[in-house]
Amino acid sequence: MQQSLTELAAQFKLDGLDFVEHAPGYRVIKIENSQASAEIALQGAQVMNYKPAGQEAPVIWLSPGASFKPGKSLRGGVPVCWPWFGPHAEDSDKPAHGYARTVDWRLLDASHQEDDSIRLTLGLLETEATQLLWPHVTPLQLEIQVGASLGLRLTTHNAGNKPVQIGEALHTYFAVSDIADIEIQGLEGATFYDKVNQMVPATQQGPIKIGSEVDRVYVNTHADCVIVDPGYQRRIRIIAPDSQSTIVWNPWQEKAEKMGDLGENGYRRMVCVESGNALENCIHLPQGESHALAVEYRVE
Ligand code: BG6
Repeated sequence: MQQSLTELAAQFKLDGLDFVEHAPGYRVIKIENSQASAEIALQGAQVMNYKPAGQEAPVIWLSPGASFKPGKSLRGGVPVCWPWFGPHAEDSDKPAHGYARTVDWRLLDASHQEDDSIRLTLGLLETEATQLLWPHVTPLQLEIQVGASLGLRLTTHNAGNKPVQIGEALHTYFAVSDIADIEIQGLEGATFYDKVNQMVPATQQGPIKIGSEVDRVYVNTHADCVIVDPGYQRRIRIIAPDSQSTIVWNPWQEKAEKMGDLGENGYRRMVCVESGNALENCIHLPQGESHALAVEYRVE
């Protein structure tokens, strides 16, 4: 059952935590305290934005052209791609990147941590519609820790009676001062499949600079990535030891215009660096076992 704003406010009373309707039917958790501010949509458990105290620019980017519609993925923030990444392997009618990002989740717990950060736990709501897309019993939870850094932990439990294969990614849109000025470090020497070049594998030489459409799945790498942004005078460190795949995406101008929900020149203000397990790194999860994908985003 969906939680109403009144129910949420009655059940979860914490300083710095609030519940609002952002658009009709679009319920959002707001956090504002000494450490940071953030907004999280109950649809998709989608972090919409995050800004640590002392930063002028947000760390997580939400498109000014994002449309807040029930059942439609929001452009920006941290969409949760699960239980498959990209197109479904056998059935192209199933939604790209799975369904976790477009269905309702429930807030299960909210607590203050000693350092004044707030930790939320959300659980995906299984329905008849989700069962049609994914006929398995795999409860999914996302813990979100909003503090001086942003922590996310996506846990899949296989409560069914056979093994399942999971593809997943935290499809994070990072805010950048200008896409042409940044570089992404940490993937040097890694193998990637290039979606812009028919998935031909290649090896990353040096840091990534972006000057045209980029859509790559890097595999077998769990090193930290760092977005170096001279314009915002900051480095965003992405720590994701359980992630074997990193997806780097920027649609560039022409594709962005066709997409229609990136806002004017929005492609210049974002880069997706997604931590996950995709392609050959998909997770084989035996019955009775759990798997967690954890990330932390830290401004240096
Ligand atoms: C990236 C994919 O992860 O997500 C791209 O590699 C895709 O191919 C992009 O275009 C955005 O996907 P969507 O479904 O949110 O438009």
